[in-house]
Amino acid sequence: MTGVREFSFDSAQLEIFWEDASHSRLQAIWLRDHCRMPSSRDPRNGQRLINITDIPYTIGIRNVSLESDRLVVEFKPDGHRSEFDLDWLYQNCYCLNSQHDDRSEASKILWHGKSFGKSLPRQDYAAFCSQRRSRLAALQAVRDYGFVLLDKVPCESGRVLEAIRVFGYPRETNYGTMFEVRARVDPNNLAYTQIGLGCHLDNPYRDPVPGVQLLHCLESTAEGGETVLQDGFMAAKVLRGENPGYFVTLSQNWINYRFQDSDTDLRSRVPMIEVNDLDEVVKLRFNNRSIDTIRLPPDRLQQFYPAYRGLAEILERADLQLTFKLQPGELILFDNTRVLHARKAYSTSGTRHLQGAYSDLDGLYSCLAMLEAAR
Ligand code: OGA
Ligand code: ZN
Repeated sequence: MTGVREFSFDSAQLEIFWEDASHSRLQAIWLRDHCRMPSSRDPRNGQRLINITDIPYTIGIRNVSLESDRLVVEFKPDGHRSEFDLDWLYQNCYCLNSQHDDRSEASKILWHGKSFGKSLPRQDYAAFCSQRRSRLAALQAVRDYGFVLLDKVPCESGRVLEAIRVFGYPRETNYGTMFEVRARVDPNNLAYTQIGLGCHLDNPYRDPVPGVQLLHCLESTAEGGETVLQDGFMAAKVLRGENPGYFVTLSQNWINYRFQDSDTDLRSRVPMIEVNDLDEVVKLRFNNRSIDTIRLPPDRLQQFYPAYRGLAEILERADLQLTFKLQPGELILFDNTRVLHARKAYSTSGTRHLQGAYSDLDGLYSCLAMLEAAR
């Protein structure tokens, strides 16, 4: 723990000079809003009891004193008293800790086709289900690289849902809680045919998009049907480096996605590349099968097509692609906001059967946070 070397205050702010030579400058309203006392936060659950409008317009600091490992702040005009643990102040001070976005490209390890050599991020399925250490490693791989392969998964129906329950909850959709990926007679989706599928992210027409996708291979005797994965954040970075204007066009022009069948009509209006307030990529939506009519104003449309093609051409570059054939008993678990997947066409002789399901990233990150905290 870092102690306080010195502090000073005026009505507007508190300044703390820490023993490690760092320095905090905290505004009165922030301190009052982050008050940890039982009148401001329910001690049973830590949730805030006050509204921002409960804080007087003229909030200021009347006095500050240091009492062992706490700073006691008295506010004016109402005389409210807050005690702040020094540890808490140090760890939460907005001068020392910037806003952190664990979903953004800035906190990921970007990769290309050769980054992993022969050793893809991989965990044994039984260990993933029963051992914290394996589960932790698998979820860290999903966080950092956007995917993990689980192997020795029994070739039985429903394992994809069992895998989801290890870290979160299935996301039920119009395709069911689980869907069968195999050639069908009257497919409502090209995924349920033998034709190849270009690199895509699933379900951009859903809002919110399912953040996690799983595909479990139960049978694979057909020829072809190889899987391609690629890091969409890497592709977006390449695009931004090679043609910053294209990047801006794809992040600033929102388009419509749509899925329709006899009993469904799903629609969204979203950007292909989503950035956060720091201009970091946080989410991609790319799926040629499900872009709805593009109805941008003429001048924007003229900019949109070269940019869209520019990104698509980068995604077609072999050096960004990781190609392998999913074997029966293998399951890929991936971040559907980042890692694109494709499938090569496969033969009519032999069978190919995958089961797929979706989940959400918030549950996965929550499970990961609990595992990391318990380490
Ligand atoms: C899908 C899909 C890929 C495959 O079902 O979303 O893209 O390998 N399938 O069949
Ligand atoms: Zn897909």
